[in-house]
Amino acid sequence: MTVKRYRRLRQSENIRKLVAETRLDPSRLVLPIFVSDEAEKEIPLESMPGHFHWPSNRVGLLAKQAESLGIPGVLVFGVTENKDPLASQAYAPDGPAQRAIAEIKSSTPGMAIFADTCLCGYTDSGHCGIVEDDKVLNDASVEVIARTAVSQARAGADFVSPSDMMDGRVGAIRRALDDEGFVDTGIMSYAAKFASSMYGPFRKVANSSPAFGDRRGYQIDPASTRQGLLSIERDLEEGADIIMVKPALVNLDLIQTARERYDVPISAYNVSGEYAMVKAAAERGWMDERRAALEILGSMVRAGADFVISYHALDAAGWMQEGWLEHS
Ligand code: PBG
Ligand code: ZN
Repeated sequence: MTVKRYRRLRQSENIRKLVAETRLDPSRLVLPIFVSDEAEKEIPLESMPGHFHWPSNRVGLLAKQAESLGIPGVLVFGVTENKDPLASQAYAPDGPAQRAIAEIKSSTPGMAIFADTCLCGYTDSGHCGIVEDDKVLNDASVEVIARTAVSQARAGADFVSPSDMMDGRVGAIRRALDDEGFVDTGIMSYAAKFASSMYGPFRKVANSSPAFGDRRGYQIDPASTRQGLLSIERDLEEGADIIMVKPALVNLDLIQTARERYDVPISAYNVSGEYAMVKAAAERGWMDERRAALEILGSMVRAGADFVISYHALDAAGWMQEGWLEHS
């Protein structure tokens, strides 16, 4: 038998480019944005280098930068110290997320605006729902989450994105949006969201760590792929337009299976811990940041994600325009 010479296809940059099975471009990216009601100017975030707490009246600058790099969407997180049991800043008409959404809408009208819809950044318990006797109540939380979604739609969000993992939230949000006339506001559900160690840097930034207990009573056990699939199926039945897998890098199996089963858009959340690992290693000179980030984003697209929400979005968009893995 003659030797199978696969290396023929690897001989030059241009040959590799032509036969590449996955191509990355900035249109696959969504940039997460943190907006704080306390910031007067951008405040750098220690656990997430390259990211800031933005004041809502300046966040248009960031949206414009994303737009100029060809990034089609942003995911908005509100940050506040003004926390209470009913998460009132989550649905306040002048809450941090609502103000930011309006600002982004006016500065970059074409930008697709996703709003993270959850309570953990706004409750004094730090939990993603309403707490009574140290229990996170499901149905009471769903009501408040639906109210939050409506206020984000009113502010101008194109998609609300429930990340709480309460049961029945997608259906409740859909009904609430329709009742208020927001029939064109979509839902990107954090459908398969796991109780992951990978959210550490984010929780520091959003000051949203639970004051007691943890999130394992509502987020999915990382040991269980099938629960992720059930959750996706349920959210689709309840009216989700886009489903998300989170964290993405440690759940590529689920992205691939979901891609095979469901003909809906799938997004992958390249979460804060995944970003921090690359950043920290790169700072020490242990990895090449550009190659690592693009390889990771590429793996998510390869698994079947239509787009990736990533803290690397701004840098990666620039790198992608220059070409994937070229300067190796
Ligand atoms: C809020 C929320 C979290 C993230 C997105 N929305 C934190 C959590 O569930 O604890 C994590 C994002 C990241 O780590 O990048 N529910
Ligand atoms: Zn939450």
